[in-house]
Amino acid sequence: MDYAATRDEALARVADAQDLGAVEALRVELLGKSGSISGLLKTLGGMSPEERQALGPQIHALRESVSQALGEAKDQLESAALQAQLAHETVDLSLPACEALRGTVHPVSQVMDELAEIFADLGFAVATGPEIEDDWHNFTALNIPESHPARAMHDTFYFPDQMAQVGQKMLLRTHTSPVQIRTMLDAVKTNPGGAPIRIIAPGRVYRSDSDATHTPMFHQVEGLVIDKGIHLGHLKWTLETFLKAFFEREDIVLRLRPSYFPFTEPSIEVDAGFAIINGKRVLGGSGDAPGHGWMELLGSGMVNRKVIEAGGFDPDEWQGFAFGVGVDRLAMLKYGMDDLRAFFDGDVRWLQHYGFSAHDVPTLSGGVGVRP
Ligand code: PHE
Repeated sequence: MDYAATRDEALARVADAQDLGAVEALRVELLGKSGSISGLLKTLGGMSPEERQALGPQIHALRESVSQALGEAKDQLESAALQAQLAHETVDLSLPACEALRGTVHPVSQVMDELAEIFADLGFAVATGPEIEDDWHNFTALNIPESHPARAMHDTFYFPDQMAQVGQKMLLRTHTSPVQIRTMLDAVKTNPGGAPIRIIAPGRVYRSDSDATHTPMFHQVEGLVIDKGIHLGHLKWTLETFLKAFFEREDIVLRLRPSYFPFTEPSIEVDAGFAIINGKRVLGGSGDAPGHGWMELLGSGMVNRKVIEAGGFDPDEWQGFAFGVGVDRLAMLKYGMDDLRAFFDGDVRWLQHYGFSAHDVPTLSGGVGVRP
């Protein structure tokens, strides 16, 4: 048998193979289980030892060179196929990109940003305080001593007695007013005689309460001004200016009513006039007009002398006003949500509907929605 001729013929056929299918068919025909070259290998079994010694290496070499040629042919055809594909497939870079899903700014964050912007224009800084507060800052220093009936107005979450710190019962702050005390004490530390203060303090507050308009955690923003010669006129102008800018309406009308908070004297409840439009209350105009009404908006007043003292200031020299308003409530009034609980459900559909893009912040000077 002429193995060299068999090899040459096989190699010629491999060289002729035009595509991967033909190469695979040849592999099966020559080297497969019942392939012709595989058949030659099987003849080794029937040979005498001498014959096998002489022919074995030739048959193995034949099989080896054909197998190598098949492998190379396959590699070449595959890379040619890839080159052809790369040559005719193109990427169109002018096509618009798929829109990426973007999150939204939560209405509470949005309103807090709006408030910070508006009050920054009025010269107010943003102050913060801890949510885990002690009894003294949350109550006593604000002229709400123990057993004072005003404590019952706050459904307070207390920590267990053994978590008391420096003899103080700890609690989740029920309002942002303790930031008044902390801010005054800080100011006196750096300025022993006292110094003018203009701050707002937005943040979370906690009360054991839950229905469509109350959640155990909600948000308030506190305002505090301490200076010399501060009077009710300053409070009224500040609230009017802030509420007009916030609701983006010149026709906001406020009604100031006497009220009671232990930490302000006099205390003033502020109502705003509303009209009913499409079944919804919309702020604007006098609440006394026919078909209109007044809604309670926020609590405020002149800072009580005792609170100014607790803050380390001399109340004969320094006066001030303070106010506290629900941020969630402001958001609901401005943007029309009617269930407070949805604010805290984290439902993406709600967030897509009521959330904001990162740029929509009205300012006192810049108007609404200044976009870059
Ligand atoms: N802290 C009061 C509340 O939570 C609001 C308030 C703040 C009233 C400041 C007067 C002055 O209801």
